[in-house]
Amino acid sequence: MKTSVVKGVSCFVPEKVVTNQQLSQMMDTTDEWITERTGIKERHMAERTSSTSDLGLKAAKNLLAKIQFPTQDIELIIAATVTPDYYFPGIGVQIQQGLGLSKIPAIDIRGQCSAFAWAITTAYVYLRSGFYKNALVIGSEIHSRMMEYSTRGRNFTVLFGDGAGAMLLESHQYPEGRATAHNHLRGVIDHEMGSDGSGAELLALKRPGFAKGHTEFFSVKEAEDGDDRPSMEGRQVFRNAVERMLQSANTILLRNGISVADIDLIIPHQANMRINESVREKLGVAPEKVFNNIQHYGNTTSATLPICMTEAEEQGRLKAGDLVLTLTFGSGFTWGANLIRW
Ligand code: COA
Repeated sequence: MKTSVVKGVSCFVPEKVVTNQQLSQMMDTTDEWITERTGIKERHMAERTSSTSDLGLKAAKNLLAKIQFPTQDIELIIAATVTPDYYFPGIGVQIQQGLGLSKIPAIDIRGQCSAFAWAITTAYVYLRSGFYKNALVIGSEIHSRMMEYSTRGRNFTVLFGDGAGAMLLESHQYPEGRATAHNHLRGVIDHEMGSDGSGAELLALKRPGFAKGHTEFFSVKEAEDGDDRPSMEGRQVFRNAVERMLQSANTILLRNGISVADIDLIIPHQANMRINESVREKLGVAPEKVFNNIQHYGNTTSATLPICMTEAEEQGRLKAGDLVLTLTFGSGFTWGANLIRW
């Protein structure tokens, strides 16, 4: 079996910043409420001239330049988003086109806030088997265009931001075997994925769509009523997020015969600082072992992990050889984790 090694990670975040103060001028909210309940201070917003695939393409190009990897050598693209340019096709083929690659497969993954972790796992499976030599994984979101900038949408709008990230994974055959939590070989060591459809209604964007009870993808009346907005039962999502992220962490630790003390850095999904603090406290780890940047980005769904990883590297908190644990939770419900020797 081959090992799937992280060759590099990068991101692209739009320049424009929207602060809590600015949101409080558009809806009945305050900087204090948002900061206290979520930890978020600001988020980024894409210009009208950019699409989700543009952001993903920029992240991919940043990555390829950073690691000096020849674009034409990419063998597989795995893309993730909840905010695609089009209902179909997905952004994978648009990014492929933007990179000038005309034949390689471009897969889109729908795992919501767990999608990047799932995409790493999907790449890991293909690369481990030797099916492809490398995979470019991309997460990109323009949430700002599905938000309602009024009091009706405040419980959702304050939480989300725009951004994109990319990672390149390469298949590698070590003479010693494959990367495990007990050797120093770099690569993806283990993963955890799970779903619970009983939570599907609790965090969703239901319209437009092809659900029963409708005769159209989206009606004029629905458009007038502003029904093309996400909905969320915040408290239930919060509770499930803590529970599932904790479970994923414990499953990975147990299965690999390690304790949380062996992990150099935990990179959790950034949905709410209180979720991450609760998981951290329950795992019994020090704050410096958990990477958070939700203050500056809000929740960027599929782009969250690569943005965190890029910043963690830049800040010297993530180095080659470190043992990293990612933890995600999202709409579905979906959850995931990756154990990686960076
Ligand atoms: N500003 C001010 N008040 C707000 C608000 C905002 N942006 N959003 C909601 N409120 C109000 C509510 O209307 C409610 O008022 P009421 O008591 O008069 O009805 C009150 O604040 C409390 O709302 P509630 O939803 O119970 O607050 P909460 O403590 O659960 O925090 C969330 C709300 C959304 C921050 C929190 O539930 C959360 O983060 N959940 C998980 C979200 C998540 O992770 N989503 C993505 C998963 S990938």
